[in-house]
Amino acid sequence: SERPRALSGIQPTAGSFHLGNYLGAIRQYVALQETHDAFYMVVDLHAITVPQDPAELRANTRLAVAQLLASGLDPERCTLFVQSHVPEHAQLGWVMNCLTGFGEASRMTQFKDKSAKQGADRATVGLFTYPILQVADILLYQASHVPVGEDQRQHIELTRDLAERFNGRFGDTFRIPEPYIVKETGKIYDLQDPTIKMSKSASTPKGLINLLDEPKTTAKKVKSAVTDTDTVIRFDPENKPGVSNLLTIMATLTGTSVADLEKSYEGKMYGALKTDLAEVMVDFVTPFRDRTQEYLDDPETLDSVLAKGAEKARAVAAETLARTYERVGF
Ligand code: ADP
Ligand code: NA
Repeated sequence: SERPRALSGIQPTAGSFHLGNYLGAIRQYVALQETHDAFYMVVDLHAITVPQDPAELRANTRLAVAQLLASGLDPERCTLFVQSHVPEHAQLGWVMNCLTGFGEASRMTQFKDKSAKQGADRATVGLFTYPILQVADILLYQASHVPVGEDQRQHIELTRDLAERFNGRFGDTFRIPEPYIVKETGKIYDLQDPTIKMSKSASTPKGLINLLDEPKTTAKKVKSAVTDTDTVIRFDPENKPGVSNLLTIMATLTGTSVADLEKSYEGKMYGALKTDLAEVMVDFVTPFRDRTQEYLDDPETLDSVLAKGAEKARAVAAETLARTYERVGF
C-alpha cells in the first residue's frame, strides 16, 4: 500500500495496561491505523527477559490483545499479532546482535534500570539484548513511524543507528524509522510521586492507574493524587508536577485544551479538579473493562484475529528477512 508504515509493541507482563501505556502509546496506535499501514504486536519474546510463569504469560498475552481491541484497534484497519507467532523477529534479532557494539548496548539506560532492579547476577543476557530485538521488531516491517512513550526514545535512536550501519555496510535494506512521540503525553507521571513516570515496575501502588482496576479504586486513586501546598490550578510541570500531570490527563481524555481547563478552574480548589477527573476516569475505564471482558469471553474471535494478524505480519517480515540474509551472505 501507499501509506507509511507504523509499528509498535507492548509487553504482556503486567496483566492490566496502565494509564501511561494508554496515553503515551496506545492512543496513538488507534489514531495511526487511519493514516498508516499499521502493525501492532504483543511482545511476548520480550516478556521472557525476566522470569515468567508459562500459564500466566499465555493468559496475559491474550489479555493484552483483548485490551488493545478494547482500546479501539480494529483488525480490519491494522495488523494485530503476537511476536512469537512470527519467527523472523528472533532471526533478524540475531543479525542485529552481531551488528551492535557491546559498549553501545551497555549504554542503554533501560537495561541499567531494569538490571539494577533484578540484581546484577540475576539479570539475563536476554534483558541486555532486549533493545536489539526491538530494533529487529521495527526494521522487519520497514516502519517509518514508531508510536511510543518518551522512555523509548533511546531505543529508536539505536534502531536508526543500526539501520544506517547495515545499509552502509551491505547496501540499502532498511527504512530509517522515526519515533512518534506525542509531546504532551509522552511521559505520564505517577499520581503519588509525580517526579517519576507511571510504570508497572516503578510506580507506587496508589500512584499507578491500572485500566482494569475496579472503577471505584480508580476514583479513589485519582482523588488521593499528590498535588502541592499551593492552591492554584496552573500548568507548570517544573514547579507543579502533580497538578500539571492531572491537567494533562484531563485534557487528553476530554479533548479540552489545558488552557481552557486552567480557565474553567480559576478560583477553584484542587479537590474540584480531582473530583471531575475521577469521574472522567471512571467513565473511561468502565466501558474499557467491559469491552476487554467481552473479547476474553470470545476466544474463537481472538484466535482468528491473531491467526490473520500473524499471516499478514509474516508476509512482510519474511520478505525483509530474505533480503537481509541474502545481503549478509547466507
Ligand atoms: P512499562 O514502561 O510500564 O514497563 P511498557 O514497557 O510495556 O510499559 O510500555 C508500553 C508503551 O507504553 C511504550 O511505548 C512506553 O513508552 C509507553 N509508556 C509506558 N509508561 C509510560 C508513561 N508513564 N507515560 C507515557 N508512555 C508510557
Ligand atoms: Na516502557
